[in-house]
Amino acid sequence: MENHEKIIPGGIVRGSITVPGDKSISIRAILLSSVSEGTSAISGLSKGEDIKSALKCIMQLGIETFKDKMGNLVVEGKGMKGFAPLTKDLDCGNSGTTLRLLTGLLAGQENTYTLTGDDSLKKRPMERVITPLRKMGAKIECLESDYSLPFSVGSSLLKSIEYNVPVASAQVKSAILFAGMYADGITSVIETEKTRDHTELMLNACGVEVITDSIKKKVTVKGLKKIMPINMSIPGDISGASFFIVLSTLLAGSSLTIKNVGLNPTRSGVIDVLREMGADISVTNKRLAGNEETADLEIKSAELTGITIKGNKIPMVIDELPIIAVAGAFANGKTVICDASELRVKETDRIHALCFNLRKMGANVEENPDGLTIFGNGALHGSEFDSFGDHRIAMAFAVAACALKEESVIEGSDWADISFPGFYDLLNRIRGISQN
Ligand code: S3P
Repeated sequence: MENHEKIIPGGIVRGSITVPGDKSISIRAILLSSVSEGTSAISGLSKGEDIKSALKCIMQLGIETFKDKMGNLVVEGKGMKGFAPLTKDLDCGNSGTTLRLLTGLLAGQENTYTLTGDDSLKKRPMERVITPLRKMGAKIECLESDYSLPFSVGSSLLKSIEYNVPVASAQVKSAILFAGMYADGITSVIETEKTRDHTELMLNACGVEVITDSIKKKVTVKGLKKIMPINMSIPGDISGASFFIVLSTLLAGSSLTIKNVGLNPTRSGVIDVLREMGADISVTNKRLAGNEETADLEIKSAELTGITIKGNKIPMVIDELPIIAVAGAFANGKTVICDASELRVKETDRIHALCFNLRKMGANVEENPDGLTIFGNGALHGSEFDSFGDHRIAMAFAVAACALKEESVIEGSDWADISFPGFYDLLNRIRGISQN
């Protein structure tokens, strides 16, 4: 995916949009429905490449899926141990969520499977899931001493554990909870900071008793023999929406409605952060989609001021930090992001990618081991930005480019397809920019 996109700056954002279904919830729904007992129907699923990777994996594992007349994805679950034996590797592509969560399910199967992924996924840390799953008795064999892909997950009888996760990671928590369903007894995960809780909510909807102790930041699941199928409508991805929230904030005279956005409190930190910076965001029509809070957003353009984002706020905005950093470049004063060293092990090193691209547009930036400081509202200009093979870096700088004076180019722009197919068309259409 190495093409480029020219971004014509300016325009005024007007109208109403929807964004693709939430990536985290989509992948969980695909994986959990595949091990459920019966037929699941999922609507509003994202069409992003990461979701295709998750779907391809379960289909390779012998799970039948099809689209019904309404466009819902129907998944014929084969029960908790129903995956077919395989000789070919399971390719998770660019998707860390697919890889880490699927590893949790495969740890409880009766066959051995090999997992792999693209060049970016091969560089991402896997020890964080392998260590707790091995403690549960999973037989995981790595070719490399640094635990990188490919690795195999073997058949085993799992035992329950109580595990303190050393990094704030919903993927690690979810992998352990998934494996915990196959273990005898009670498995507990204790977090350093609360992370997104889509797994807990979805397991509850599948009839699994998950207990959360918010004070101890402890989540518990009991081993069981079967889970119920899923019937849910997936809300729009707050992460995808955040690009259009910042776009509408930055382009003077703009007014945008984004319908049906997931506002799970463990994910909606970007709204709080942008409001604290001065953004004008109204939340209307609050409701539940499945167990997930959902609403419509109305955004009007506004002046921004820099703030500090740190500590337990970081996991609540971890995927939105690239677009928040871009907002910081257009804000008055200083925006500080710290306690965010996890950004270094995302689809790319996002701290480096942000500093590199922010400097290219003339921003004054300080790179730190655990974050960055952006000295806002300098003399900014159009540039050639590098996506670094990362969907959120590509989209964040496409939004920045809209608010600059000169034309810009995003190199490796197609990486946006990982979570947001059609992103650039929407970015032009909603600003009234003709592409011809
Ligand atoms: C995700 C958790 C986060 C996030 C990722 C999706 C999930 O990763 O950055 O995009 O769906 O659980 P970590 O678990 O590595 O923090």
